[in-house]
Amino acid sequence: MLRSYSTLRILAVATLLAPLAGGAVPSARAAEGPLAPVNLRCEYLKNPVGIDVRQPRFAWVLHHTERAQVQSAYQVLVASTPELLAQNKGDQWDSGKTASDDSTQVVYNGKPLESDHSYWWKVRYWDKGGNASDYSHPASFDVGLLSADEWKGQWIGGANQLRQEFTLAEAPRRARAYICGLGYYELRINGKKIGTNYLDPGFTTWDKRVLYVTYDVTANLHHGANALGVMLGEGWYKSRVVLLQLDIELASGKHVSVTSGPTWKAKNGPIVSDSLYDGEVYDARLETPGWDLPGYKDDGWKPAESVKAPGGVLSAQMMPPIQDVDSMVPIALTNPRPGVYVYDMGQNFSGWVELHVNGPRGAQVQLRFAELLYDTGMINRENLRGAKARDIYILRGDGEEHYHPRFTYHGFRYVEVTGYPGTPSLDSLRGHVVHTAVKTTGSFVASNQLLNQIHKIIRWSDLTNLHSVPTDCDQRDERQGWMGDAQVSSEGVMLNFDMAAFYSNFLRDMRDDLGADGTMTDTVPYLTHGRRPADPAWGTAFPLICWYLYQQSGDLRLLQENYDGLKKYVEYLHSRAPDNVLRFSYYGDWVATEKTPGAEVSDFYYYYDTLVVSKMAAALGNAADAESYIQRAGQIKDAFNKEFFDPKTGNYTTGTQTANVLPLFLDMVPSEYRGAVAGNLANNILYEHNTHLTTGLAGLRYLMPALTQTGHADLAYDLATQTTYPSWGYMLANGATTVWELWQQKVGPSMNSQNHHMMGSVDGWFYEALGGINVDSEHPGYRHIRIEPQVVRDLTSVSATVGSVRGNVTSSWSHEPGVITLQVDVPVNSTASISIPKEDPMTNITIHEGDQTVWEKGHFVEGTPGVTAGRLDGKRVVFEVGSGHYAFRVTGE
Ligand code: BGC
Repeated sequence: MLRSYSTLRILAVATLLAPLAGGAVPSARAAEGPLAPVNLRCEYLKNPVGIDVRQPRFAWVLHHTERAQVQSAYQVLVASTPELLAQNKGDQWDSGKTASDDSTQVVYNGKPLESDHSYWWKVRYWDKGGNASDYSHPASFDVGLLSADEWKGQWIGGANQLRQEFTLAEAPRRARAYICGLGYYELRINGKKIGTNYLDPGFTTWDKRVLYVTYDVTANLHHGANALGVMLGEGWYKSRVVLLQLDIELASGKHVSVTSGPTWKAKNGPIVSDSLYDGEVYDARLETPGWDLPGYKDDGWKPAESVKAPGGVLSAQMMPPIQDVDSMVPIALTNPRPGVYVYDMGQNFSGWVELHVNGPRGAQVQLRFAELLYDTGMINRENLRGAKARDIYILRGDGEEHYHPRFTYHGFRYVEVTGYPGTPSLDSLRGHVVHTAVKTTGSFVASNQLLNQIHKIIRWSDLTNLHSVPTDCDQRDERQGWMGDAQVSSEGVMLNFDMAAFYSNFLRDMRDDLGADGTMTDTVPYLTHGRRPADPAWGTAFPLICWYLYQQSGDLRLLQENYDGLKKYVEYLHSRAPDNVLRFSYYGDWVATEKTPGAEVSDFYYYYDTLVVSKMAAALGNAADAESYIQRAGQIKDAFNKEFFDPKTGNYTTGTQTANVLPLFLDMVPSEYRGAVAGNLANNILYEHNTHLTTGLAGLRYLMPALTQTGHADLAYDLATQTTYPSWGYMLANGATTVWELWQQKVGPSMNSQNHHMMGSVDGWFYEALGGINVDSEHPGYRHIRIEPQVVRDLTSVSATVGSVRGNVTSSWSHEPGVITLQVDVPVNSTASISIPKEDPMTNITIHEGDQTVWEKGHFVEGTPGVTAGRLDGKRVVFEVGSGHYAFRVTGE
C-alpha cells in the first residue's frame, strides 16, 4: 500500500482522534507540529516500582506531523506529588528548557531522590522550528531502598510457609513491600497473592548479589488487623529464606515498618517438595486455609528461624518479571495405554499446566512433561537427562480443584496424565506459558512462509529461554546462563523484544562473576555449570552483548559501568596470547556438522573483543585506550592470518565454512585474498554441500552476514530456506515448534534439546539484511539508521519493524518484475540513509517518493520534503532522509 505524503498528513491528524500506538492521546492542540511525547520510560521501564538508582535516566518517543523533525530542546518536570506535576511544578527537578536532541538517556539532575518515595514526571519538547509540544501524560517511578542499612528485618526461614500478623492504627496512605525470598517466594497479604510475578527473584550468584522486588501494596492493607504470608521454594538457591520489609505511611503521615524476624511463625504447607528440574509435589490435604488472613490460629506453628544471609548485595530487580504470559489450549488428547492420557499442547514452551480435577480425597494425579513422543504415543523423556520434570497433585476431595505449581517450570509440548480420577477431557488441562515478560517490539513478515515459520520458532525459543537470564534450554537438567548461546542470539533478541533492562541486568551479573584476574565464566550466574576461564567464544558475551546493547540504545552509562571490567577481560585474553594468538578453547564452533579448529574460533573472538573494547574506549572519549587497543587488534589480525591462513588455497585452517566465515565477517582477510576466500566459502556451500550449511554456534552467527557482505545474499537466502538436513526447514519438516539444539534429529538419551535458542541467531539477519534495518554503529541508538534491504531470489515482499529507543523503524518492500517499492518509517529525532536496490537488468531507472520524483536520468531530484540527498552506490541508490514516512517506487526499463 502506497501512502503519499499528503495522505500521511491527513492520517497524522486522524490519529489524534484515536489513541496513538504505544502511548497516550495528546491534546487536540497539536493538530500540526510536535505531538506530546509518548512511551515515557525510566531506566528502560514503564512506571517502575522500586528502582535503586540515584540518578535514573529518562526516555521518551516523539511524534510530529512534519517530516525531518528533531527535538531542539526538552523540559522534564519531576514532582513529589501528582498534584504538583499537574500544576506544572517540578519541585524535585525542573530541567527548564534544555537545548538538546537527547530523547533517551536523559539523566535526572534534581534534588537527591529518597528511598521509599514515589515521583511523578512528564516531558515536553521543542521541534527544530522552536514550536513546543504539549506535556506528555504523567509517568511515575518509585525509589526502593537505596542503601543496605535501610533494611531493618532479618533473614528468616525454618519452613516453606511463614506468617506474621500486625495491626495498623489507621488506614495506609502508601505502602510498599520489599522482599527477597530465595530460591523463590510467593508473597500473600490478607489472603491474596501480591502481584503477578512468578519465579521471583531473578537468578544471581548469591554471594555477590541478590535481587529484591518491590510491590505497591497500599490497596492490600487496611486499618486494623492484617496478615502477611510468605511461601518459599528452593529454586536455584536450594534453600528457603526470606527478607521482607513492609514500609507503610499511615493516613496521618506516620510511618511504620513490618519486617521479617523471629516473631514470625513457620510451618510447612501443602508443597511437599519442589525442585526446578524435578517439579513439585503438592498435597492439597496439607493446605492451611486462612493462614494468610488475620485471626488465624497458628498455635501449631513454630517460631521462624533466623538464618544466614546469602551474602550478596541486595539490589532492586530492575527488569521485566517472569510472568504467566499466555494460556494454551491442548490440541489433542490420546489414551495410549489404560489409565495413561497424553495431551499435545501443539507447541513446545516453558511453563506449566493448570490441572482441573474433581475426585476423592487423597487421589494422586501425576503430570509428566516431555518434548517428544514415541511412535506408541507414549511420551519420550530421554533427552531430559536427570530432570524428573513431573508435578504431583494430591486431592483434597471437596469438589472442583485447580492446581498449577509455583516453584518450578517445565519445557514441554506433551503432558502425560496418570492417576486422574475418571476420564480427563481437553478441558482438564490448560497450558501456561511462563517466562520473562519482555515486550515484543519487533516484527518480521516475508512473502515466503518458510521464513515466517522459522522466525516464529526462533521467537518461541528466544522467549521461552528468557528466565531472568538467557538460559540455554528450558527442559533438561541444565537451564543455565550459557554465555556462548547468549551472545550468538542476543542481537536478534534485541531486535524482537525490549531487552535493554534485561541485558543491563545480565551484564551486571557478568561483572559480578568476572574474576579479579579478568577471567570470565562459561555460565553466568556461575554456580554449577561450565568453567572459569570461559571458552573465549562464551566469555565474549561480556564485550559483545555490551556492544550490541550500546548499539541499540546509545547507552553510554552502560559502557561506563562495564568498561573497566571489559578491559580486565581483554587483558586476561592478552595474557593468554603471548605471540598474539589465543589458542585455548573447549567447545569452539559448538555442534557444527564439520569441525573447525577451536583455536581459530577463540582467536577470532580475541580479535573481536579487542576491537570492540577499542571502539568503546573511543565512544567514552578515551583516545589513548582506543588507540592502543586498535593497534593491538591490528597485531592480532596479522598474527591470525599468519597462523591460520593459507594464501596458496585461499582457505583458513580446514577450509570449512566457519573457518572462512569468521575472518570474512570481521574483514580480517588481507584485501587481495578477500575475493578468493569468499569464493571458497560460496563453493564449499554450493558444490561440497549442495547448498547446505555445516556451521555450529559460532560460524552460524556470521554465515549469512558474511555471505551478504561479499555479494552472496542470494546464497544466504538459499541456505536460510533450505528444507533438507541440516537446516531450519528440516527441523520444521520434522515437527519442530522451537529451534533444536542440534542440526541432527535426535531423540535419544543424550544432548538433544528441542528448544535451544542458539541456532536462532539467523533472526538478526532476517531483520538486518532481508528487512534491511541497521543501526549505524557511528550513531548508536538509531540516531542514524541504515536501511538497506536485500531483494533476493523469489522473495516478493518483506516487512520489518524494530521498536527502537527513538520509536518504530519500519522497512517494508515489495518486488514485482520491473517495480520495487520501499516504505520506510524513520522516528522523529533520527535520520536515515535509505539504500534502494534496483533490479539487475533495469537501466534508466526512475524513483518516485509518493507523487514526487526523487531520481531521474541518473540524478537526484531535489525538492521532496525530508529527502535531502541521493547518490548512486553500485547497483543501489542511496537517499538521505529525515524523520517521517516515505514511500519509494523504483521503475526502469
Ligand atoms: C549447553 C550448551 C552450552 C554448552 C557448552 C551445553 O550443555 O546446553 O548450549 O553452550 O553446554 O558447550
